[in-house]
Amino acid sequence: MKSLNIGILTSGGDSPGMNAAIRAIVRAGISYGHQMYAIYNGYRGLVAGQIEKVDRSFVSQIINKGGTILRSARLPEFIDVNIRGEGVKQLKKFGINALVVIGGDGTYRGAKDLSDMGINCIGLPGTIDNDIACTDYTIGFDTCLNTIVMAVDKLRDTTFSHQRCSIIEVMGNRAGDLAIYAGLACGAELTISGDNFMPLKEIIERLKFQKATSKNHAMVIVSEKLFDLQELARFISQETGFEVRTEVLGRIQRGGSPSAFDRILASRMGEYAVQCLNEGKTSRCIGVRGQQLMDFDIYDALAMQRAKHTSIVNTIDRLK
Ligand code: F6P
Repeated sequence: MKSLNIGILTSGGDSPGMNAAIRAIVRAGISYGHQMYAIYNGYRGLVAGQIEKVDRSFVSQIINKGGTILRSARLPEFIDVNIRGEGVKQLKKFGINALVVIGGDGTYRGAKDLSDMGINCIGLPGTIDNDIACTDYTIGFDTCLNTIVMAVDKLRDTTFSHQRCSIIEVMGNRAGDLAIYAGLACGAELTISGDNFMPLKEIIERLKFQKATSKNHAMVIVSEKLFDLQELARFISQETGFEVRTEVLGRIQRGGSPSAFDRILASRMGEYAVQCLNEGKTSRCIGVRGQQLMDFDIYDALAMQRAKHTSIVNTIDRLK
């Protein structure tokens, strides 16, 4: 097996478990005799040459830490071939011949573009959004979901006491996974995401039904980027008579110590990424299907469409 110089970066929105993935890549890489390089601040740091060689101790005491020790950044300009060219120059300067990137779909697009320029990239899905089609779960989704569930449970106490309707907006970018999983886990009276979008008329009917039948409070979980929350709150209040409060959970959802599930997923995926490199595989994205780790061609991975969560949505509906 050829000894490689492997660079690692995290990019896009950070997610709990990224550190566990970095640790696994560094530890597995070193145990196979590779040299490991930390690239700071995502593609921005790559272009700027913020790179250093690291050893095992670099990743000590981080498996339980949220965020990313490599820091993260968004660099929309990376789409420009000249800017990417600067990144390629830096990789050559440090002799890095394989790059493992941890991030979401934007990170994957950057990796694909680098692959087109002859750089061997391996992608690990690190995002709270769970919006990467080639994997059942992304690193950080489970921790984020648990953060949302904890917050919604607390909000339910006060919503119940004051007999209000609380609208809670959760992250997910354009994917509804966080909303619908949280909706089911929290027994929300109403859950609205891109996977089960409903017109205003139906929202009102459902809340009126809640009010008339059993409950005088309601928890409504909505995905971000679907509604103007204030307008939605005004409309619900006017049409149902509920006193309404809105809560945007925001970036608190991205923080915190990763759950056991995310630590294990990140560790397995990180080690698997190094195995792929050992086997001479190029330009792959790592995913998990059931218990099975898999790797996909980066172009195929980006072309895949996310399946709608029809089964979970149906369960939510039956339990309403
Ligand atoms: O992709 C992760 C994510 O947290 C999305 O859920 C959200 O839409 C976005 O990032 C927010 O990004 P930023 O913190 O850069 O505003």
